[in-house]
Amino acid sequence: MHANTRLGPRHLPVSYTVRDVEVCPAVVLAPMEGVTDLAFRRLVRSIGGTGMTWTEFIPSAGLSRGEERWVQMAEFDDDEWPVAVQIYGNEPALLAEAARFVQDLGPTLVDINMGCPSKKVCKNSGGSALMKEPDLVRRIVAEVRAAVQLPLTVKMRSGFDAGQRNAPEIARICQEEGAEAITIHWRTREDRYSGERAVDKIAETVDRLSVPVIGNGDVVDVASAEAMLRETGCDGLMVGRGAMKDPWVFQKIGAWLRAEPPVVVTPADRRAALLGYLERCRRQFARDQGRRSNPEQAALGRFKQLSKHFLDDDDVRTAVLRSQTVDQAVAHVQRHFDALEERAA
Ligand SMILES: Cc1cc2nc3c(=O)[nH]c(=O)nc-3n(C[C@H](O)[C@H](O)[C@H](O)COP(=O)(O)O)c2cc1C
Repeated sequence: MHANTRLGPRHLPVSYTVRDVEVCPAVVLAPMEGVTDLAFRRLVRSIGGTGMTWTEFIPSAGLSRGEERWVQMAEFDDDEWPVAVQIYGNEPALLAEAARFVQDLGPTLVDINMGCPSKKVCKNSGGSALMKEPDLVRRIVAEVRAAVQLPLTVKMRSGFDAGQRNAPEIARICQEEGAEAITIHWRTREDRYSGERAVDKIAETVDRLSVPVIGNGDVVDVASAEAMLRETGCDGLMVGRGAMKDPWVFQKIGAWLRAEPPVVVTPADRRAALLGYLERCRRQFARDQGRRSNPEQAALGRFKQLSKHFLDDDDVRTAVLRSQTVDQAVAHVQRHFDALEERAA
């Protein structure tokens, strides 16, 4: 076995369990603010193959007050299962109150964010700044644990910076206080979204915990999934940005985990998925009418955001990004896929 290899070929996890909830396949959609709203999660679920979905992170203060904007962000479909609602903040009592609110909505589990690198969130000691305060982490997890019966999980980074890569210690505290699974993004807060790949702290956490540990960071296909699983021995995988480029990534990794034939995606599948997403955005933003001055432009903005990752042809991507209206963007996408399908025929 290679020195980096912690798992033999027969030990790849097909599923993992959080309390009594089976997550199958063991590859889940990451929470992404401004991305994993209902429209995006519906796209991913319409394609299928994800073991669990996550809402965007939601401020505990706003949610505990029941503010409409945040309550809407915590919504999920009746058939969206398993689903996690993620909350953030740094005040144990507010997080506990928000978790109670979440519990009443009836998701599968509540997840606490300890990984957000944003200045605004860290300035108030939330997100990844919590990793510098183990005592506060202990109080937060203990209070939230005491407030709800729902399964409780935590998502974090490997540490705050290169000098404090303390995920194994923080994760251990979370487990001691009742967290039932931990997700670790291998980067530190200082790395933001770059840095040199180092998954050692995920591997160390796996060794120190008895609850499932989910590996996250740059898992985008079967090869990167295999590397994460074999190098860390983690129980499952979380995919974020890779799902914007390729929403079939869950099916692809799941098929590989089950030793099934590779998944084939046609240009027609890709066209239908992209345009289906636009329709979902239009419906979602039309529903929010009172809150948005221009729902069509809001839908176009979201469509462009996905297209930036999803479309791999530079010319059509640029054309979509320059579109002033939904109709213009759709026309570029249709022409692009017409040409692809003609070529494939
Ligand atoms: C646009 C964007 C928004 C994000 N928002 C959240 C969030 O709300 N909560 C959270 O825990 N992580 C958030 N993350 C981090 C991702 O969940 C994930 O940990 C990170 O992107 C690394 O995984 P990836 O390489 O598969 O994208 C966000 C990442 C991106 C790119």
